[in-house]
Amino acid sequence: MTDCLGDGEGAKTPMELYEELTAQGDQVRALKTAKAEKTEIEAAVQLLIKLKVDYKQVAGQDYKAGCPPSENSVAPDNGPAASGGDDEDTVDPWNVSTTNAKGVDYDKLIVRFGSSKIDKELVDRIEKVAGQRPHHFLRRGIFFSHRDMHQVLDAYEKQKSFYLYTGRGPSSESMHVGHLIPFIFTKWLQDVFDIPLVIQLTDDEKYLWKDLTLEDCHHFAVENAKDIIACGFDVNKTFIFSDLDYMGASPEFYRNVVKIQKHVTFNQVKGIFGFTDSDCIGKISFPAIQAAPSFSNSFPQIFGSRKDIQCLIPCAIDQDPYFRMTRDVAPRIGYPKPALLHSTFFPALQGAQTKMSASDANSSIFLTDTPKQIKNKINKHAFSGGKDTVEEHRQDGGNPDVDVSFMYLTFFLEDDEQLEKIRQDYASGALLTGELKKILIETLQPMIAQHQERRKQVTDETVKQFMTPRRLNFHF
Ligand code: TRP
Repeated sequence: MTDCLGDGEGAKTPMELYEELTAQGDQVRALKTAKAEKTEIEAAVQLLIKLKVDYKQVAGQDYKAGCPPSENSVAPDNGPAASGGDDEDTVDPWNVSTTNAKGVDYDKLIVRFGSSKIDKELVDRIEKVAGQRPHHFLRRGIFFSHRDMHQVLDAYEKQKSFYLYTGRGPSSESMHVGHLIPFIFTKWLQDVFDIPLVIQLTDDEKYLWKDLTLEDCHHFAVENAKDIIACGFDVNKTFIFSDLDYMGASPEFYRNVVKIQKHVTFNQVKGIFGFTDSDCIGKISFPAIQAAPSFSNSFPQIFGSRKDIQCLIPCAIDQDPYFRMTRDVAPRIGYPKPALLHSTFFPALQGAQTKMSASDANSSIFLTDTPKQIKNKINKHAFSGGKDTVEEHRQDGGNPDVDVSFMYLTFFLEDDEQLEKIRQDYASGALLTGELKKILIETLQPMIAQHQERRKQVTDETVKQFMTPRRLNFHF
């Protein structure tokens, strides 16, 4: 089901889907009336939900029994919508929330988005092809979903290279630890595969969405670039760009933006992103700008005129709507579809119902926080899965699945055995909440101090080097 919609090939029309949905609705009712087995009914309901999501994506409107799709429905695009369905989790580029203390149900998200799970087989294969132990983000399911990663590896094994693309929306001067996740992982990928990387700073996006001036957004882009560079990227292999600068400087980039704009309708972006008639036209056309770096000829200084170099995008799953759209237009404008690796969200201190937010100082640990601030924030705000009293905790144990300190350790504590021991000790009651928090504090304090040290070394001249369009150390 997912596959037939997945990439727009052999995709169904709104009317075909409407008819399938109606038939599936009848089927569910029939099963319920016949008191069929619970598992059978559940499977039928799941399919129904999935069809509804697919329908909304393709038709640009919710399914209503008895109301066939209207004439102006859009051509099929790429996979189910980011939100919708009978699901309580909200995941789109602007909102992430769930009522579940353990966080978003990522398996359900894979079904809804029509992506694939990063299973053990894929992790093993990455290990084999890269010749290195997989990063703990892969081993622990922090990067949990993908599109076309096997294809990327097939090609790489045949000496066909690829490049990496990731990005950041610079909405303030300071970044928080959650923002580092895609960059830490991208750096690992760049090191093991030895490939070019482009990093888009969408200062234009933040200007369009927030109450900020163009100057502010551009300034944030440059400041954020320093934090990104401090992750250790190689200047000979990495190009970082601000949209406000690069869009005007690169005819090739802008040509791709326009090509994409021509092949996506307003109806489609409404369906994918939920834009309304009162959104400014800048927002409506912005997705084309986030899509353009997925195509290698947007960067002639790096790839010459080659338009066939495969792109791999590591990103948090909330960015997927942009790339579903990108994958849908790619074949229609003669380019390969970008592959993707999706990460889970970095939870807010208050709990995994939402992600860390740069606009709420108490929900986040910033890269500028002092050791004391880190300690206080964790002790005061990190949601605990522990019991109310020490006696109860010793007796019944805590719940690491909802404990934010434990979750943060899964991101930042590299030693698998140590992490597993902490989990067991916490669950058994041997380890108290205060002790768990102390381990986290002692993990984060040096990590952030080292980041601050590296960031200090990043001069304006270094930033300029990274952000100058130029040839990298690769020959295409
Ligand atoms: N829209 C993203 C944000 O707000 C920034 C971004 C642009 C991005 N291109 C990307 C993120 C590619 C991941 C991959 O943060």
